Amino acid sequence: MFTLNCDRAYLYAHPERELTEDEQSRYDAALAERSRGVPAQYITGHQEFWRMDLIVTPAVLIPRPETEHVIETVLELQASASGVRRPASAPRTAALRASEDRKPDAGWRILDVGTGSGAIALALAKELPQAEIIAADISPAALEIARANAARHQLESRIQFREADLLAGFDDNSLDFVVSNPPYVGESEEDQVQLEVRKFEPRTAVFAGSTGVEVIARLIPQTHAALRPGGWLVMEISGAIAEEVRKLLRDWKEVEIRPDLQSIPRVVHART
Ligand SMILES: C[S@@+](CC[C@H](N)C(=O)[O-])C[C@H]1O[C@@H](n2cnc3c(N)ncnc32)[C@H](O)[C@@H]1O
Repeated sequence: MFTLNCDRAYLYAHPERELTEDEQSRYDAALAERSRGVPAQYITGHQEFWRMDLIVTPAVLIPRPETEHVIETVLELQASASGVRRPASAPRTAALRASEDRKPDAGWRILDVGTGSGAIALALAKELPQAEIIAADISPAALEIARANAARHQLESRIQFREADLLAGFDDNSLDFVVSNPPYVGESEEDQVQLEVRKFEPRTAVFAGSTGVEVIARLIPQTHAALRPGGWLVMEISGAIAEEVRKLLRDWKEVEIRPDLQSIPRVVHART
């Protein structure tokens, strides 16, 4: 499908189709890359996430299906909270209040920390058309891909992109949600990580110091200072660090860790 730029149905419908010399050499080159371990997504340049086709390059982590649980959790919390609107920080007109009542995500400020390809920010921009979405990453190369993905899905006017170390510059208690799939693998468990991930995905996207909680340990207090009272942190984690993360959230309210489809603790949410 990649070589011929066609869909699966075309392949089934045209079993007689022979490859031209050019196509054959592109196919051989792709196979050679794959056989040295390069993930298929970096060869084709694409990965699907939340029913969107995203561009991926070795500058970004390949979005994983488990991360869709982060989106589900945000949507669930947002829906349950939108009935009880937060007090306005500035006076609102009756017309604005009425329109917010019709569109419950209006006025919500959501920050995606470590946006990578933009997967989480784009999915939330798509699902919450009135919310303000900010996507931050420490990597300028990743932000370039995230911007390209936003343009590809006509969401560029919906997302503000920021180059930042975690939540630097977001300490004014103004956010409703901080959402993140941060690096959370410990360097001490490096040999248990798939070779493809270790060799080809960006190190800063995967590893976070020797135990794996180092980035999260910085992110949690910074998030507390960035959220409005009653705001939410929704974050992807792994089973290996779940109990350590629970300890780091001991002063937070409504802490819950949910499993993924393989019953591995995967998404934590907590409230200020
Ligand atoms: C696990 S990837 C997640 C990418 C994307 N959100 C996803 O779910 O597919 C982690 C991302 O965090 C970024 N990152 C790592 N350390 C960071 C830091 N100190 N501040 C901001 N972003 C950071 C990496 O560049 C990478 O894009």
